[in-house]
Amino acid sequence: MHRAKISIIGAGNVGATTALWCAAAQLGDIVLLDLPQTEGMPKGKALDLRQAGPIVGFDAQLVGTTSYEDTADSDVVVITAGVPRKPGMSRDDLLAVNAQVVGEVAEQVRRTSPDAVVIVVSNPLDAMTYRAWQVTGFPPHRVVGQAGVLDAARFRTFVAMELGVSVEDVSAMLLGGHGDTMVPLISCTSVSGIPVSQLLPPDRLQQIIQRTRDGGAEIVSLLKTGSAYYAPAAATAQMVEAIVRDKKRLLPCAAYCDKEYGVGGLFVGVPVVLGAKGVERIIQLELTPGEQQAFRRSVEAVRELIARMDRLIEAV
Ligand code: NAI
Ligand code: 2OP
Repeated sequence: MHRAKISIIGAGNVGATTALWCAAAQLGDIVLLDLPQTEGMPKGKALDLRQAGPIVGFDAQLVGTTSYEDTADSDVVVITAGVPRKPGMSRDDLLAVNAQVVGEVAEQVRRTSPDAVVIVVSNPLDAMTYRAWQVTGFPPHRVVGQAGVLDAARFRTFVAMELGVSVEDVSAMLLGGHGDTMVPLISCTSVSGIPVSQLLPPDRLQQIIQRTRDGGAEIVSLLKTGSAYYAPAAATAQMVEAIVRDKKRLLPCAAYCDKEYGVGGLFVGVPVVLGAKGVERIIQLELTPGEQQAFRRSVEAVRELIARMDRLIEAV
């Protein structure tokens, strides 16, 4: 039986924690790669994680490396390389440095794993997913960004906390960029099938939506030395699972939309069916006029960011 090969580029907080979730779920063999100057760090983390196997009960091979040759012919490559934000910074403040990092990583991925499905996590997410697509030259369905699974999980958590019910019973969907303009969809949020609007008043729901939009910043301001990683890594591992087990999960992900939603050639958060081929389908939803307007605003914010990134790259 084919064991999936999963390479994670960037062995920092999100990368190493993604490796942990993937190993614990027995999703395949894992390669954890970081920069040459980090020397033994990825090897040390991989060995430490591997020694959790006998306790947790997984047999995954975990390899730490600084060489892309060890990632060759991966089925899935997860890009978490780059810098996280510090208090007071927005995700967009990371644009210049992470565009350079993701560009370098994508070149190596194109060379060593030409058939992989690539999951991008580095921020600013929608622009970095676009950058990875530009540089790998992969068909767009094989490049996908992780943000919506995390943002929807935050929304679900806050709704469950408010109602005092299990998170398992809260289901949510959201659209748009991974930033202040993201669009949690009240019309697609329910608790055991009951529309959330029947359970919470509009003003309370708006406060929860705002807390979701600020969810990353709330954690940055508490941690002070970096950004969230447990939930982001769990979200990424869920996407890896959908691909390596061909689960056809319907998840919010940053996917290439052209005619879809009238986006015109950008990566932005939409509901997709995620399976072995990557993004197998984009689900087109009927939006209320308010949701349509909010989504258009979010798409424009992503478009402006990508234009800024293209100018920065041209200037180098
Ligand atoms: P971190 O600083 O803990 O780890 C980043 C790692 O990338 C470091 O180990 C660094 O040495 C490595 N790296 C830098 N340049 C590299 C290169 N050219 N090749 C290989 N490795 C390289 O940061 P953390 O917390 O893991 O975050 C990583 C990225 O993910 C950040 O950009 C952050 O903003 C983003 N992020 C995105 C989320 C999302 O939902 N999309 C959620 C959380 C973080
Ligand atoms: C988050 O939302 C930093 O994008 C990351 O936590």
